[in-house]
This record gives sequence, C-alpha cells and structure tokens, in this order.
Amino acid sequence: MVIRDLAVPVPVIQGGMGVGVSLSRLAGNVAKCGGIGIISTAQIGYQEPEFDANPIESNLKAIGKQIKRAKEIAMGGIVGANIMVATKKYEEYVRAAVKAGADLIISGAGLPTLLPALVEQSKTKIAPIVSSVKSASVICKLWDRKFKRCPDLVVIEGPKAGGHLGFSLEELEEFQEEAYETEIKGILRLIKQYSEKYQYHIPVVVAGGIYDGKDLRHAMELGADGVQVATRFVTTWECDASEAYKQAYVNAKKEDIQIVKSPVGMPGRAIFNEFIRRTQTGEEVKHWKCHQCLEKCNQKDIPYCITDALIHAVEGNLEQGLIFCGANAWRAKKIEHVSEIMEEFAQEFAKI
Ligand SMILES: Cc1cc2nc3c(=O)[nH]c(=O)nc-3n(C[C@H](O)[C@H](O)[C@H](O)COP(=O)(O)O)c2cc1C
Repeated sequence: MVIRDLAVPVPVIQGGMGVGVSLSRLAGNVAKCGGIGIISTAQIGYQEPEFDANPIESNLKAIGKQIKRAKEIAMGGIVGANIMVATKKYEEYVRAAVKAGADLIISGAGLPTLLPALVEQSKTKIAPIVSSVKSASVICKLWDRKFKRCPDLVVIEGPKAGGHLGFSLEELEEFQEEAYETEIKGILRLIKQYSEKYQYHIPVVVAGGIYDGKDLRHAMELGADGVQVATRFVTTWECDASEAYKQAYVNAKKEDIQIVKSPVGMPGRAIFNEFIRRTQTGEEVKHWKCHQCLEKCNQKDIPYCITDALIHAVEGNLEQGLIFCGANAWRAKKIEHVSEIMEEFAQEFAKI
C-alpha cells in the first residue's frame, strides 16, 4: 500500500486505542514489522506526574515523548497518531503530533473539517475515519472546496469496531453484513472520483472485526487497499495495557461483549463486568474532578467519567474500569507477539 510518498510493506494499520492501550511500545513494534503503528492521543499523558493538576499540558508533553519513542522502536517504520475530533484542544494535539514528526494523523469521532490547515507545510499525511458514503462525501467535498485537497488515506470503520462507534443503537441492532459491504463499495467509488481528480491513488482501508489473514483477503476482494486492526493487537506482549486488561480479552466469551452507553454520547463496545453492571442499574459512579477530555461533556449530567473508567481499565483495576473491545475480542485465546500477527498478515498479503 502506498500513501503518497509512504510505502507500507504490509497493508495493516494498527488502530489507535485510548486510553493508553496503543502507545509507543505497540505502535513502534507494528511499524517495525512493516505495518503502520498508531498511538492514541486520548489522555495520553495519564502517566505523567502532573496529569491530575494539568491534563492538557501532560497530554501535549506525552505526545512528543510517545511519538519519539515509537519511532526509535520502529527503526524507520511508519508511526502515526489517532486524534479524536471530539477531544478538547484537538487542534493543539494535532500540532503537537505534527511537530513530533508523526507520519500520519487519523481522526474520527466527528469529522475533521480543519485538519488540512493544521498539517500545512508538513509531511504529515491525513486520514478521516468515515462510516458511510454520506460522511465520506461531506468531508471530501469540504476539503476539496476549502483547501483544494483530498485525504491522503481514508479509513472506513464499521459496526464491529471497538471503542466508541459511529453508529446509533438502532443501526447497530439492524446491522446487516450485506448492506455494510454495499456501503464500503459506495465509499470506494466516491474516493476513486477524488483519486482521478487529484491524479494520485488514495488508499482506503476498512476497520472493524478484521482479525486474521482471511479477513484481510476479504477486505481486499471488496476493493480495499488494506485494513485497520485494533482488537487483535490488544492481546500482544507489546500492547501498552496492563496484563489484567489483556487477560480480560482472553477470558471473554462472545456473550460477554456488549454495546454500552457512554457519556461521550455515542454507543461503545466493551466486555461486561461489575463496572458496567453498576452503570446499567443506574448506580452513580462518583467522580471528583474533570480531566478535560471532551469538548462536549457536562460533568453534572454524566453517569460516570469516561477518563476515570478507561484509565482504571488500562491500569488493570477492572472492577472500576470500562474494558473497550471490538466484536471479535472473544477470539483471543492467548497472548502473542506483534511479529507473529504481522507475519500472518504478511503471508496472506503475499498470496493475494
Ligand atoms: C480498546 C480500544 C480502544 C479504542 N480507542 C479508540 C480511540 O481512542 N480513537 C479511535 O478513533 N478509535 C478507537 N478505537 C477503534 C480502533 O482504532 C479501530 O478502528 C477499531 O477498533 C477496529 O476494529 P477491531 O478492534 O475489530 O480491529 C478503539 C478500539 C479499541 C478496541
């Protein structure tokens, strides 16, 4: 897969996972193995000593540190950042990632309308995450009109993804594989028009439920250039989450994986646990301080603090944590090395 001047030997992007699930160790190792490693900037500074007092400064500092460390591990491989549009100080985080030398910025959880302006005069590539022909069309039209440019890459994220989902509860309930594949083909057709207009190939990757070489093959048969994979990389030795977090995946059964309501206002997917049970029964989960994560969050109205819940989970305090995962998390049977997973994808890709 080629993204403008970036050649990607294995067309696998490791999806950004916040809070703290994909940091430098995971991203660096995926990049080292020929894929693209993506750091999630969502509360990336949570391990910084001054995080409680000053989350935004801590996050800005950590973006630089984590990208630098990932690039050292990657030894020339491609490292990018996932920065959600819905986060407070989105523009500052993007600028910090560009300054730190991120090769690519992937932005979802809203449409990244201003992203082209934020990377101007840098080599950083940009990719919106879309989940329908409509959202793909809106962002392409807008960038074309306002910035005379188009995306360097497009990520299509489907309903089987992990974390917050770009679909309503009703859409998730009515999900049909065939309709989704029609949507993917529609997006591919649309992006082809922009490729023709701008005279370079804009690669499109699909995300959500991609677990093995067979899934990569299927995505490429639909016309995609590659895939974005997140859940599969959680159960690796190199993943930045605690061992308890990874074990929760290994132990999860299919029926443990549920759609949950999140204070972010979008549905999310997570492994059912005591924390989810408490929030579903309406029990109030106390939070004492705002960590400045989202642009739109009213402390008084939320059932729990999403930052607290995700930090508890990544640190291994599972009783109080929200364990985000994709629909295929139950397929994990053991902890693997990133190199083994990448080898599996590389072998299938070579056959394709
Ligand atoms: C634990 C977890 C955390 C995630 N966090 C983010 C995030 O912070 N921002 C984002 O845009 N996507 C996030 N995602 C979505 C992934 O980047 C990815 O697109 C999606 O999960 C792909 O589906 P898969 O997990 O089935 O491979 C997260 C996914 C998981 C599993």
